[in-house]
Amino acid sequence: MKTIKMRFTNENQNEIFQIASEKLNQGGLVVFPTETVYGIGGNALNPEAVRKIYEAKGRPSDNPLIVHINDPRELPKYAKDINQYVYELIRAFWPGPLTMVFKKTDLVQTYLTGGLDTVAVRIPDNEIIQGILNHSKLPICAPSANTSGRPSATTFDHVVEDLDGKVDMIIDGGKSFIGLESTVLDVTGETPVILRPGKITKENLETVLRRTVVISTPQKKESELAPKSPGMKYKHYAPKADLIIIDKIKDDFIDEVNNLSLDQDTYIIASAEYLEKIHHNKIYNLGSISNLDEISSNVFAAFRHMDLVGAKKIYIQLFENTGIGHAINNRIQKASTKK
Ligand code: TXA
Ligand code: MG
Repeated sequence: MKTIKMRFTNENQNEIFQIASEKLNQGGLVVFPTETVYGIGGNALNPEAVRKIYEAKGRPSDNPLIVHINDPRELPKYAKDINQYVYELIRAFWPGPLTMVFKKTDLVQTYLTGGLDTVAVRIPDNEIIQGILNHSKLPICAPSANTSGRPSATTFDHVVEDLDGKVDMIIDGGKSFIGLESTVLDVTGETPVILRPGKITKENLETVLRRTVVISTPQKKESELAPKSPGMKYKHYAPKADLIIIDKIKDDFIDEVNNLSLDQDTYIIASAEYLEKIHHNKIYNLGSISNLDEISSNVFAAFRHMDLVGAKKIYIQLFENTGIGHAINNRIQKASTKK
């Protein structure tokens, strides 16, 4: 398949919205940026489009997709038995990096939900996907625009690496602002449960709701997980090399790295403050430790860069577990080989 590639500008935006809408209405696939990561989108109500998304990503079909909409008034088409507190979350966080999991309506077929009776929905905060939603008048299901198991795509180049020739169109909207996927929150019960940490944290949610929010912690081996959030059981985000976490901070981290004997195909991924004291030339600078937003926007790019340069082994640090630090650590841990 020949993939149309276009860079989004003020001048060509209407043309882009029109071509993208046409492709989506014909059952085709379009890759667009969102504020979190790039998404590979199709018409959520077209089974053939959904099948093509799974095929293009090589994604297991029991891992459900997020439906993207642009108006909260559309929510009841897809979600039922909506808890009252959800409206407070909508007011506070939509459009934005919060996906909510609801009981699904009959309009939502199980090919979208991996067989579950729930559906994930979000309103993204990015003018390109919003323009496409407005123009196409379709609900757009979109997983992250990466080959299944690889780090999510946060730049146009990442998308092209994985999906060129497999989709109808790729829109270049620059580097993803947040760089990690949305927070996924199960809102089917009285107590909301975070299924995937993201930019919107437990504390952010609790401040708005004035009630406790729980973070889901799989008790069983991941492969035995009940299908509450099927995506959690798969290996994710991983570079090809072994990724080894050194769970130490400051001088302890630096001393540990400096005491290792490192080959030329071993890399260190860490913050600027640590790297300046490390005696090794194969490094990837994630940014300043005092700016976790900068770190979050660079994590997946770092993993992909390791594949490009042929790293065999990677050592990486963890970050303070506050704010988006929790989501950063979650992605690093999921991608890691061992501690
Ligand atoms: O930021 C994002 O969420 C991006 C952009 C493109 O919107 N999308 C994204 O989609 O990350 P994906 O498919 O890569 O991840 C969706 C996650 C998976 O872990 C999936 O298992 C979970 O959401 N999920 C989807 N529907 C669910 C449901 N009904 N119940 C529980 N978890 C669900
Ligand atoms: Mg994904």
